[in-house]
Amino acid sequence: MNLHHHIPAMAILLSLVSHVAADCPVRPPCTCDELGTNSDGTKSWSVNCVNKGLTMVPTFDTTKDSVEELLLGKNHISSISNDAFSTLKGLNFIDLSENNISYIGEKAFLGQKNSLEYLYLGKNVLTAIPVFAEDMSILRELVLSTNQMTTIPANAFHKTPALSKLYLNSNKISTIDGAAFDDIQNSLDLLNLQNNSLTSNVIQVLANLPKLRILYLAYNPLGNIPQAGFGQAFQSIQDLNLEFTQLSEFPVVLLSRFWKLRTLMLSGNQMASFDLPTVGNLTSTLQNLYLHNMGLTKIPKGIAQMKNLHRLELSRNSIATLDTCAFHNNTNLRTVSLSGNPLECTCNAAGLRFLQNILRKDFKGLDQPCPSESLKEYTVTTFPIDHCDTRDLCNSKLLSSTTSMPTQSPSASPVASGTATMSTVEVTTRLTPAMAVVTVMVVVSLR
Ligand SMILES: *[C@@H]1O[C@H](CO)[C@@H](O)[C@H](O)[C@H]1NC(C)=O
Ligand SMILES: *[C@@H]1O[C@H](CO)[C@@H](O)[C@H](O)[C@H]1NC(C)=O
Ligand SMILES: *[C@@H]1O[C@H](CO)[C@@H](O)[C@H](O)[C@H]1NC(C)=O
Ligand SMILES: *[C@@H]1O[C@H](CO)[C@@H](O)[C@H](O)[C@H]1NC(C)=O
Repeated sequence: MNLHHHIPAMAILLSLVSHVAADCPVRPPCTCDELGTNSDGTKSWSVNCVNKGLTMVPTFDTTKDSVEELLLGKNHISSISNDAFSTLKGLNFIDLSENNISYIGEKAFLGQKNSLEYLYLGKNVLTAIPVFAEDMSILRELVLSTNQMTTIPANAFHKTPALSKLYLNSNKISTIDGAAFDDIQNSLDLLNLQNNSLTSNVIQVLANLPKLRILYLAYNPLGNIPQAGFGQAFQSIQDLNLEFTQLSEFPVVLLSRFWKLRTLMLSGNQMASFDLPTVGNLTSTLQNLYLHNMGLTKIPKGIAQMKNLHRLELSRNSIATLDTCAFHNNTNLRTVSLSGNPLECTCNAAGLRFLQNILRKDFKGLDQPCPSESLKEYTVTTFPIDHCDTRDLCNSKLLSSTTSMPTQSPSASPVASGTATMSTVEVTTRLTPAMAVVTVMVVVSLR
C-alpha cells in the first residue's frame, strides 16, 4: 500500500470536516450531522446538544439551511423563551427530555407550527400541558411523561388537532376534565396515563375517543370500575393495560363493550377467581391475556371460549390444578406461561395432563368429546412416564410451555418422542403430513 493513495481521500475528508464546521448552525459543544439536501438546494441538519451542561437553549446562527432535528436532552434548561427557536426553520423533532423545564413561552414553537411533528418534554417539572399560541397543525407525538401535572383541563389540546400519540404517564394527575380530549377525539391513537392518581371516573372520559387504539392505565388507584354508566362502546381500543390498578372484581360489563380488544393486561390485581365475559366481541378478538400475580386459584372461566387466544400469561398465581379440558377450544393458543404456581405433579396429575392436552389439541382427535378415551391412543410414550420420578418437574420455579406449529411434518404416522436432560424436557410429536408439528418445551429449573 502506497501512502500517496490515501492523500486524496484525506483531503476530501478534511474539506468535509471544515465544510460541516462552517455550515453547522450552532457552535460547539453542540455538533451537527447533515441529514440531506432540501429541494431548494439548502441543507437539512440534525443538531445534537445532548448532555452538554447547557442551562439555556443555545443561540443558533442564522442560516438558509433547515434544522430538522434538535436534540437538547439531559441538560439543565429551566425555561424555553418565546424566541428560543425563532432563528430556526423546518424543525420536525425537538427533544427536550431530562431537563428542568418549568416554563415554555406560548410562542416558542410558532415558527415550527407547520413542521413540528415530535415534541419530547419527558422528565421535566412542568405543572401544566404546554399552551401554544397557534395551531401546531401537524404535531403528532407529544411526550409529557414524568412531569408534575395534576390535572388536565377542558380543551387542553385545542391547538394540537393532529395529536396521535400522547404520553402523560408518571405525573400526579388526579382529575381529567370530561372535555379534555375533545379536540383530539378524531386523531388520538395512543394514550398513556400510566402511573398517575386516577380513579375509575376516568373511564367515562375515555369512552369518547373513537380512534383510540392503545390505552395504558396501569398503576393508577382505579379501584373497582362501575358496572354501568359509561355511555358509548369502546369501539377501537385494541390494547388495554390495567395492571396494578387495585381492581378486585373483573370489569365484566366494561369489557363486554369493547369491540376490538386484542391485548388485555390485568396483572397485579388481586382477584382469586373471575369469569371472562363471553358476551360481546371478546370471544373472537382477544389474543393476548396477561394475568400474572393475581392470586388466581384456577384458570378463569370463559378462557375456553376465546377462540383466537394466542398468548396466556398466568405466572405467579396460586393455581394448583389444571382442568384437562381447560384449553380444549383454544385452538390458536401458542404460549402459556405458568411459572411460579404451586402446580401439583403426580404422574396423573393436572400439570402433565395439561401438557398432554396441549399436545392432544393439535391432534385431529380434537373432534372427540373431552375428556376422551382417544387420548390414550396418542399418549406420549417417553413422556411423561420416564420423567414422572422427576418430581421437581412441577415443583420447579419455572414451568412454561410454548407450542409452535411449523408448516408440515415429513413423518407419516403419529409417533411421539421425548428427550430430557436435567434442565430441559422437549417433546416433539410428529403427525401425518397433513397435520402440523407440535413442539412442547418444558423448561425446568432444578434447585
Ligand atoms: C431547576 O430550576 C429552578 C428554577 O426554575 C432552580 O431553582 C433549580 O435550582 C433548578 N434545578 C436544577 C437541578 O437545575
Ligand atoms: C411512577 O412515577 C414516578 C415518578 O413520578 C417514578 O419514580 C416511578 O418509578 C414510576 N413508577 C412506575 C411503576 O412507572
Ligand atoms: C362487535 O363489533 C362490530 C364491529 O366490528 C360491531 O358492529 C358490534 O356492535 C360489536 N358488538 C359488540 C357487542 O360490541
Ligand atoms: C368447546 O366448544 C364447544 C362448541 O362451541 C362447546 O360445546 C364445548 O363446551 C366447549 N368446550 C369447553 C371445554 O368449553
